[in-house]
Amino acid sequence: MLILNKTAGVFSKPSRKKPYEFLRSFNFYPGKLFLHKLVLGIETSCDDTAAAVVDETGNVLGEAIHSQTEVHLKTGGIVPPVAQQLHRENIQRIVQEAVSASKVSPSELSAIATTIKPGLALSLGVGLSFSLQLVHQLKKPFIPIHHMEAHALTIRLLNKVEFPFLVLLISGGHCLLALVRGVSDFLLLGKSLDIAPGDMLDKVARRLSLIKHPECSTMSGGKAIEHLAKQGNKLHFDIKPPMQRAKNSKNCDFSFSGLQHVIDKIIMQKEKEEGIQKGQILSSAAHIAAAVQHTIACHIAKRTHRAILFCKQRHLLSQSNAVLVVSGGVASNLYIRKALEIVTNATQCTLLCPPPRLCTDNGIMIA
Ligand code: KG4
Ligand code: ZN
Repeated sequence: MLILNKTAGVFSKPSRKKPYEFLRSFNFYPGKLFLHKLVLGIETSCDDTAAAVVDETGNVLGEAIHSQTEVHLKTGGIVPPVAQQLHRENIQRIVQEAVSASKVSPSELSAIATTIKPGLALSLGVGLSFSLQLVHQLKKPFIPIHHMEAHALTIRLLNKVEFPFLVLLISGGHCLLALVRGVSDFLLLGKSLDIAPGDMLDKVARRLSLIKHPECSTMSGGKAIEHLAKQGNKLHFDIKPPMQRAKNSKNCDFSFSGLQHVIDKIIMQKEKEEGIQKGQILSSAAHIAAAVQHTIACHIAKRTHRAILFCKQRHLLSQSNAVLVVSGGVASNLYIRKALEIVTNATQCTLLCPPPRLCTDNGIMIA
C-alpha cells in the first residue's frame, strides 16, 4: 500500500479550469495480464466517502465507507465545506482499506472509476483530485462516472435485469424517473421540480426536533419519520397530495416543497395549541410523521404509475415483463415500497430494490 500512502500531495493538481478535458485524455483499454478486469470505484459526491474494488463479473473484492451522517445530524444538515473537509480527512484511508480488503495490489487494477457529477461541487472535487493523482501515479485509465447512472445500474450486480427498464431514484439529493435503455442511454421521464423527498423528510424531522426523541436520536430524518409513523394515524390531518392541479399533473415530475410548507404550518399550529416552544417534541409528532410519509408515498406512487402507463402505451417497456427498479436512501422506506408494490402489481410489472446498503451511496456502484 506504499503507493496509496504516497499519493497525497505528491502530484501537482490537475487544472481547475478544465477538469473534463483532462478526463477525456484517458481512454479505457482492456488489461492483458488479468483474467478479470478489476476496477477501483471512488465516491464522494455528497456525505459518504466510499470506495470499492469490483471485478468485471460483479464480484465485490473489497469495500470501505465512511459516513458523515452523525456530524451532519448535529449541524442540522450538510454544510458543504464541512463535508469537503471530512472527505479530505478520510479519502486516503477509505481507498486504502478497500484496496487492502480486496487483496489486489494497486498495480493490478485495470482502471479507476470516480463520480464526477452530479453532487456537491466541494465534495466531488475531493474524490476527483484524489483519483486523478492516483491515475497519474499508477498510470491507469480513468472512468468518469455519472452518480445517477451508477445508482440506476446497481441492480444489475444482483439481478439479471435486461434493458430497457424503468428506474425511480429517491434520496436526500435525488428524485428522478428514467427509462434505462442501455448502460449510458437514459430517457429522463420526470424529476423533482424543487427538493428531493429525503431532503424534505430531513427538514420535517429537524423541524419536529426528532433528534431529541429518545427512539430516533441516531436515525436519519427519513428513518426517524418511518419509525414514528408506525405509532401515528396517517389520516389525522387532511393533507392534499402535491401537484393535484391538472396543468401540473400531465408529466411525471415531482414536487415536495409545497408539502413541506403545509407540514411546517401544521407544526406551528400544533405548537400553539399544545403551548410548547419550537425545539420541544409535539405530542402529535407521530401523527405528523404518518401523514407526511403517507402523502409522499401516494405522490411518488402516482407519478410512477403514470410513467409506467406512458412507457407501456408507447411500447418503450415490455407489456408483460416490465421491471421497475427503485433505489436511493428513501427506497429503504417500507411504506413507500408497499405503495410502489401496489402500482407494480396493478400494471403487471416486477418491482426490484437493491438491499439498503446498495440503495444508499457506496463505492461498489461506482466500480
Ligand atoms: O441515498 P442516500 O444515502 O444519500 C443521498 O441523498 O444521496 O439517502 C439519504 C436520504 C436521507 O434524506 C434520509 O433521510 C433518507 O435517505 N432515508 C429515508 C430512510 N432512510 C434514509 N427516507 C425514508 N425512509 C427511510 N427509512
Ligand atoms: Zn446518491
